[in-house]
Amino acid sequence: MVQEAAKFETLSLKEFIAFLQGIGKTTVDGQSVEASRTAFITAFIRAFHAANENPKAFDDWIAARLLTAEEYAFFEEMYYRRTLKDTTKAHALPAQRRSVITAAMRTGATGAILGRARFAEDALEKAIAEGVQQVVLLGAGFDTFALRRADLLGRIRVIEVDHPATQAIKRQRLAAMGFSLPPSLQFVAVDFSQEDLPHALSRSCYDAEVPAFFSWLGVTYYLEREHLFKVFRSLSETAAPRGLIAFDYMDVEAFDPDQVSTQVQQLKDKVRFLGEPMKAGLDPKALERDLMGVGWELRRNLSAEDIKEMYFQGWADGFRVGKHLHLALAALPTVSIQDVT
Ligand SMILES: C[S@@+](CC[C@H](N)C(=O)[O-])C[C@H]1O[C@@H](n2cnc3c(N)ncnc32)[C@H](O)[C@@H]1O
Repeated sequence: MVQEAAKFETLSLKEFIAFLQGIGKTTVDGQSVEASRTAFITAFIRAFHAANENPKAFDDWIAARLLTAEEYAFFEEMYYRRTLKDTTKAHALPAQRRSVITAAMRTGATGAILGRARFAEDALEKAIAEGVQQVVLLGAGFDTFALRRADLLGRIRVIEVDHPATQAIKRQRLAAMGFSLPPSLQFVAVDFSQEDLPHALSRSCYDAEVPAFFSWLGVTYYLEREHLFKVFRSLSETAAPRGLIAFDYMDVEAFDPDQVSTQVQQLKDKVRFLGEPMKAGLDPKALERDLMGVGWELRRNLSAEDIKEMYFQGWADGFRVGKHLHLALAALPTVSIQDVT
C-alpha cells in the first residue's frame, strides 16, 4: 500500500485525472465497457471510514477488498489533494496524511453515504426480523451486504440489480476474492432507463408473490424523473403487498441554479465529469402524494438535519450532510391501487 501511495503522490494533475478516468474500464464479452466510477468512490468512502474512524456510523469492514490496492491508494490521494492542492510535502507523515484525508472526507459526501447505508440496513434488519425473506439491491454497485451477512444467505435471497458494466466488474472482483456464490445470491444486469424492472427480475430467483425489501441507494438522482417513477410504479404493480423500499434522493432545489448549495453544485460538476450526470430531484413536501400516485405509502422522509441528528452525534468534528440530501422509506399497501380502481 505504501508503494501505491508513493506512486500517486508524484503524478501530475493531468496523469492523476487520466488514472481516475481509467478506473472501471473493463471488457465484457469482448466489448469494452465503463463501470460507474461513483460506485468505486462510495465503496472507498465506506472502506476508509471502517478502517480509520471510531465510533463507526456504518462498519463496511469488507468494502476495501472489492477495490485494488492501487485504487484505494488513488482515492486516498484524491481526498488528500482536494485539501492541499498539490502542496503535499508539509503533511508527508502517514498519521498527518490520514488526518487530512479524514477531515476532507467529513466535509464531503461521506456523511450522506454512510448515513444512507445505515438507514437502509437498519430498516432491512428490522424487516428481516419481521419475516422478509428477499432483498433486492437496486443499483447495488459495490454494496457488501451479501458479503458481510453471508450468514443470512441460508434463509433470505439477495438479488443485486445493476447496470451491466458495473455489475460485470463487481462479479470479476468477487471471483478474484474467491467468494463462491450461493444460489440465494443472484445478479440481474439492467439499465433502469431501458428495461422494465419486473421483467428483468424474472431472470432471477426473485419471487413476486413474496414481500421484498428494495434498497435503492445513490441512484435516484441519476435517472430522469420519468424513469424514476416508472420503476416505482412497475414495482407497486407487480411486487407482493407489504414490500418496502428505502432510497435516498436530492431535493428539487439541488437542480435549481438559484437555490443549489455550492457544495452540491461542485458534486454535480464532478460526477458529470465522471460521466454520471445527476438529472432529477424530488420535492420532499410533495413526496407523499407523488409516491401515492405510483402505489407506495411514504413511511419516513428524513432531511439532512434529521440524518445528522440520527447518525452523527458524538463526533467532535461532525460529519457534514449536504442540505439537499434526503432519505425515505416507503411501503406497499396491503390493498394495491389496482384493486380499488
Ligand atoms: C453512486 S453508485 C451507488 C452504488 C451503491 N448503491 C452505493 O450506495 O454505494 C450508483 C449506482 O447506480 C447504478 N446506476 C446508475 N444509473 C443506472 C441505470 N440507468 N440503470 C442501472 N443502474 C444504474 C450504477 O451502476 C451504480 O452502481
